[in-house]
Amino acid sequence: MHNETLLLEAKGISHDFDYPLFKDISLALQEKESIAIIGVSGSGKSTLLNILCSLLTPNKGLVYYNNKNIFQLSHKELLQIRRESFGIIFQAHYLFRGFSALENLEISKFLSGNDIDKKLLQQLKIDHVINQGIGELSGGQQQRLSVARVLMKKPKVIFADEPTGNLDTATAQELIEVLFTYIKEQNAGLFIVTHEDEIAFACDKVYKLDNYTLEQLK
Ligand SMILES: Nc1ncnc2c1ncn2[C@@H]1O[C@H](COP(=O)(O)OP(=O)(O)OP(=O)(O)O)[C@@H](O)[C@H]1O
Ligand SMILES: [Mg+2]
Repeated sequence: MHNETLLLEAKGISHDFDYPLFKDISLALQEKESIAIIGVSGSGKSTLLNILCSLLTPNKGLVYYNNKNIFQLSHKELLQIRRESFGIIFQAHYLFRGFSALENLEISKFLSGNDIDKKLLQQLKIDHVINQGIGELSGGQQQRLSVARVLMKKPKVIFADEPTGNLDTATAQELIEVLFTYIKEQNAGLFIVTHEDEIAFACDKVYKLDNYTLEQLK
């Protein structure tokens, strides 16, 4: 790639819970780059993503964002990065139930100061359900709403844990295209955990978590 700008770098990450999950993992994410992480259920994909996005401190290793070791920052600095620069799309999405889709987006608008992007809602095909309550949305619509909510704050790094898990192939493809377009336009980067090879290999790089290590497949 030309003129690479490093966004996030992980060096020598090891982690175990009751048993070792992975050892000495290193990887780097550049601006406009998408990286897929695949592997069997229980191999540690979500755990690795939680470490990369600062929510879990690894037993060993360092994570740098903007050349700063995130686990050495003050609580305040770390919170600021999480709030402003990291966009975390969880495997289980935490929308506020009891509020409408629009109200959920308005909370993000309030926190980020960015307006609700109507074009984005159209691209994600949720513009017509925006006044419905969260409980009245399908699983896939809730998933796309949580993506819209995260993109609204214009993060520099997106961490997405199986964001297409509830979607049919066509809708999944459209969602991933929205994420690709976003990172190109905003000079951001994307880590995505997925079980779908088609989605994974549409990314710039693909790593498989297997046998305590990351094997690069693309
Ligand atoms: N907080 C925790 N405490 C103890 N063990 C945990 C914790 N979080 C995850 N694990 C264990 O670590 C292993 C990896 O879990 P992880 O969620 O990272 O897997 P995964 O690859 O994301 O799986 P899936 O594809 O099913 O989402 C599992 O055996 C899980 O039980
Ligand atoms: Mg997982």
